[in-house]
Amino acid sequence: MPKRNRDSIVIAVPKGRVLEQLSARFAHAGISTDALTASSRKLVREDEASGLRYLLLKPDDVPTYVEYGAADLGIVGRDVLMERSYDVFAPVDLDIGKCRMMVCGRPGEPVTGKGERPLRVATKFPQIAERYFRAKGIPVELIFCQGSVELAPLTGLADVIVDLVETGETLRQNGLAPLEKIADISSVVIANRAALKLRRNAIRPILDALRA
Ligand code: PRP
Repeated sequence: MPKRNRDSIVIAVPKGRVLEQLSARFAHAGISTDALTASSRKLVREDEASGLRYLLLKPDDVPTYVEYGAADLGIVGRDVLMERSYDVFAPVDLDIGKCRMMVCGRPGEPVTGKGERPLRVATKFPQIAERYFRAKGIPVELIFCQGSVELAPLTGLADVIVDLVETGETLRQNGLAPLEKIADISSVVIANRAALKLRRNAIRPILDALRA
């Protein structure tokens, strides 16, 4: 693997459903994304036209690469930044990847303690869920699930879930409903604090273009 060129800006991007919207947003900002949209299994993509280097990562790993300076910039959902704290700067909201962090369950399911026992909450976002229910004074038992969390209320594993809802289709098709909104989510640009100072001349135009 070639080491990074001292002058090239490295951008960590999330693989998955936001990548398409992200490419369109970059293109709209006049930033070449040929390398990003190319069909390939390569995880490091050099874009010759723009001189940018893209790293394709699992969304949860994007802030880690940016915090440690392996990437100068990153694109990540606010959900990831809410779940764990990172020492990064978040200067631009891209207004893409929009969805909601919600408490969901069977329609009409009361979001309260269940008599003697706490409300059982299955989620991939235990910190967000814990903070939300603590602020409401509702005792909860958190059950960590990695994905397909909608199964939890259907199988009796949990009373409710805390999860991202975009179209609501997954909930509908599984007989569940959104019950309470915790937060609006969108994708933001994050920046390594040192890079923002040291590589300011290269990074600033990218941030300005994405902000426009
Ligand atoms: C997310 C989320 C929901 C679904 C919501 O899962 O966890 O399951 O999308 O989208 P919708 O409201 O448009 O139906 P994702 O597809 O990212 O996979 P995951 O289950 O592995 O988290």
